[in-house]
Amino acid sequence: MAKTVDRAVGIDIGGTGMKAGIVDLSEGTMLSDRVRIDTPEGAHPADVLRTAHDLLELLGADAEGLPLGVCFPAIVKGGRTLSAANISHDWIGFEAEKFFEDGLGRQIHFVNDADAAGLAEARFGAAKGRDGLTILTTLGTGIGSAFIYDGVLIPNTELGHLIWEGESIERFAAATARERNDLSWEEWGHRLQKFYAHVEFLFSPDLFVVGGGVSKNPEKFMPYITTRAEMVTAVHRNNAGIIGAASLAQV
Ligand code: BGC
Repeated sequence: MAKTVDRAVGIDIGGTGMKAGIVDLSEGTMLSDRVRIDTPEGAHPADVLRTAHDLLELLGADAEGLPLGVCFPAIVKGGRTLSAANISHDWIGFEAEKFFEDGLGRQIHFVNDADAAGLAEARFGAAKGRDGLTILTTLGTGIGSAFIYDGVLIPNTELGHLIWEGESIERFAAATARERNDLSWEEWGHRLQKFYAHVEFLFSPDLFVVGGGVSKNPEKFMPYITTRAEMVTAVHRNNAGIIGAASLAQV
């Protein structure tokens, strides 16, 4: 009897790091160690492709022949990347899905990074079984967002690019803004409060899920944020992108 595929590989391409792992698709958990390589300087397509290739090599023989999902920090429509906030502008209007498929010699499923994380949390994490509107935000190099309504993803929301003082709000409130501006956790928390209050006013979600690398230290900044809607941290933390991308690749 044909065996349904119960595992897949996810690659999460970020502005600072690229990560990959083998995922159990019934549980939404990592079956391998997470492998990570710094995103190459400038994040030009050829260098990013080479690094994706290296990540697959690091995962080794266990990853061969498995479905592959790749998530990426830009608007993704019909396999094309349409924006470039923290990566090379070469990606704007680029046939990225085909580029990765040709370069890696295998089919991929290609999606925005925050949408992948949102999907992972809706299927296997903090938003599982939640009705209404969940907004997941990833706080990292930029700010990514995913809208999930009654379990269904509404792709390509870009809340990190709401305009604040003439710039994308991610310049002011992403995790990198805290480091770049040498802010205390409290100062950064107050900036996040402004961001979440504005988002809540616009969309009235039922649940906020906070993801990205910083979600492993919620006690440092969550006390400064108050929203009407419940706010929780992502269960899969920094692995949500890998898990979501892999789960989309399920065949
Ligand atoms: C990009 C988004 C991405 C987010 C997190 C933003 O700058 O525009 O597409 O999801 O960063 O990586």
